[in-house]
This record gives sequence, C-alpha cells and structure tokens, in this order.
Amino acid sequence: VQLNMKVETIQKNGYKHFMLKEIMEQPKVLRECLRSRINEQTGFLQLPSLDNVMDRILAARRIIICACGTSWHSGLVGEYLIEGLGRIPVEVEYASEFRYRSPLLFKDDVVIVTSQSGETADTLEAIRIANKAGALTLGIVNVVGSSIARETSAVVYLQVGPEIGVASTKAFTGQVLVLTMLAVILGHRNGNITDAEALDYARQVQEIPDKVAEILTPENLASLKRLSASLRYAKNFLYLGRGFNFPVALESALKLKEVSYVHAEGYPAAEMKHGPISLIDQQMPVCVIAPKRHHEGNYEKVRSNIQEVVARSGNVIAITDEDGRADLATLAEHVMVVPSTAEWLSPLVSCIPLQLLSYWIADYRGCEIDSPRNLAKSVTVE
Ligand code: G6P
Repeated sequence: VQLNMKVETIQKNGYKHFMLKEIMEQPKVLRECLRSRINEQTGFLQLPSLDNVMDRILAARRIIICACGTSWHSGLVGEYLIEGLGRIPVEVEYASEFRYRSPLLFKDDVVIVTSQSGETADTLEAIRIANKAGALTLGIVNVVGSSIARETSAVVYLQVGPEIGVASTKAFTGQVLVLTMLAVILGHRNGNITDAEALDYARQVQEIPDKVAEILTPENLASLKRLSASLRYAKNFLYLGRGFNFPVALESALKLKEVSYVHAEGYPAAEMKHGPISLIDQQMPVCVIAPKRHHEGNYEKVRSNIQEVVARSGNVIAITDEDGRADLATLAEHVMVVPSTAEWLSPLVSCIPLQLLSYWIADYRGCEIDSPRNLAKSVTVE
C-alpha cells in the first residue's frame, strides 16, 4: 500500500489531483497529439492511420458519430467541424440509444466512435452493429489496443497519455483536436478547402498548444481560483454557448456535475429564453462563452443573451478574448480572457478555464475529485 501511495504521488507530478495534472499538461499532450500529423514535405495535416480508408470516408453518404459522456460532447464539436469544413452530413448519437433503435445503416455510411478508454460497453456495441451492417467504422481512441481500437476498421489514437481522473479533460481536447484535423483533411481532399487555406489551417492548428499554455499562467490560475472560491456555495449553474461553443457549454456543465456534485445545465445560448431563463436570479451563476474576434456573427447574439441574464440579476461569468474584454466587463461580474482563435478552433481554448473552474469548485467543496461518488472511469456494463 505504501509503495502504491508513493507511485501515485510521483504520477501526480506534484499536483494535488490527477484532474489538475491532466488539465495543466494539456499544452504538452496536445503537442504530442499533433506529432507526426503534419506532413513535413507539404505542410498539410495528415492522419496516416486513415490513409487506407480515406477514399471510403470521402465517398460517405453521411458520417454518424457515436459515443457516451464527454466523448459524446467531442462528437458534437466534430459535427460542427466536419459539416462546416468537410461538408459531409454528420449525425451524432448517444451509443446507448443508437444500439437499441435498429438504426438505418448503409454500406456507404461511416460510423466514427470517440472513446477515451476504448472499452465503453454501449460504444463497443454500436461498432459491432455498424460492422455487421457493412458500414466503415473508425475509432478515435486514447487507450492503445483497447477493444474499440481492435474492432474498428481504422483507429486514430489521441496520443495524450493515460488519463486517470474520472472526469475527462485532456482526452476531450485530444478528441476535439483529432476531429479538427480530420475535418480539415476531408475539406481539403474534397475541394472545399484550397491548398493555401489548408496550409494556413494547419498552421493555426499547430498554434493551439501554445494558446492553451497562455491560459495556464499563474495570474489566470490565481484569478480562476478566487472566482471558484466565490462560487463554491452556488447550488445551480447554467452554461451557455453558441455554434462551436454550444457543445463546450454542455461539456462544462457535465464537468461541474461530475466532480463537485453541483447541479448544472448546458444550453445553446439562444435556447435560454425557451425555459432556463425562468431559473435566473441573483443566486444563479451563468457561464457564457462569448469570444468576439472571428466570431462576429455569434458575438452580438450571445452578448444580448448576457444582457438578458444581467437584467434578471444573474451572475455572469464571461469567457471571451481580448477584443471582448472591455465590452463584457461592463456587463459581466467576471471576465476571463482566452487567446483568440478561428471559430472552428475555439472549443480547444474556451473549455480550459471552465475545466479549472469545475476543478476548484469541487476542491473547495471537499469532493473526492479523481474518483467522484457513483462514477467510473470506464463503463464496461450497460
Ligand atoms: C464514463 C466516464 C466519462 C466518459 C464516459 C465515456 O462515464 O466517467 O468521463 O466520458 O464514460 O467514456 P469513454 O471511455 O468511452 O470516452
């Protein structure tokens, strides 16, 4: 037992919990995730493990992404990415629903599953159903040699290292990064993205680890920690985001629920008026993802959602960029700035402060962060 304790202390690398370590190491592991995925000759993105099946993916009638939990949220980001950049129709399904509703599947469908563990029972069954129907199956998986990795026709590994904390953090950003690369490659290969754009997009993708690192400065960490202390007694949270950041709102609410046992809901920002707005009062923190630069269409709309919350005395925590800082400071109780990115890359930065917020709220509440009650890292039963 003593030896195990020591090994664990070493593995945590000085951090109090694996969750914090895994959040903090994201710049490093996202660089690992990109390793060997930029072609040295051409500068284009590449996913060599998909080379043999690329023609079939490009010829797909549609792509269905199946997953559970956090991996389902990265799948939702994948839908925005692959439809937006790759221009292939995408559906995203909970694996547990998909497997029991005799889904209509065709030989020219591609079923992608995202799974950290590669062992989730419902996701594995979704793969078996798709294989049986003759669809092409692809895994986006972290654990090498896992069941899902073995049963799919082709696998892209996250290369982010083992994830120990039950609440997924670096596997989420790893999955989103892989889906981002896939979307750019599909868009480029099917002519939706020009060579010049593909080069520029590859460059922007490569900047992501540094942008994540920019968020994790001692000043930002201290400010997020103070904010978490002030929010530790709140009983309900609302998370709002639009477009690419709508799945981030869902994922951030899940993160808070998992580790702090505080109720939270994620919503597409504009849906707030169809229900959750009735919950808003001074007791209610509302985290709004509202980047401004490159997000012109969405920013004004999300800003007016923030005004609606403020008008009802809600406590707004805004995640924005330098361009939105001064403007949102006039409305929100707290403004957290992240580096600006293209819209399609913004989930990779906007989720980071919200992961930290969940972590510290849970820590202030004295929760058993790395193994929350009733939750398992890998769910191998239905
Ligand atoms: C469990 C874990 C979650 C995870 C989900 C899917 O619920 O606690 O963190 O997102 O399973 O797991 P997978 O390994 O398939 O990504």
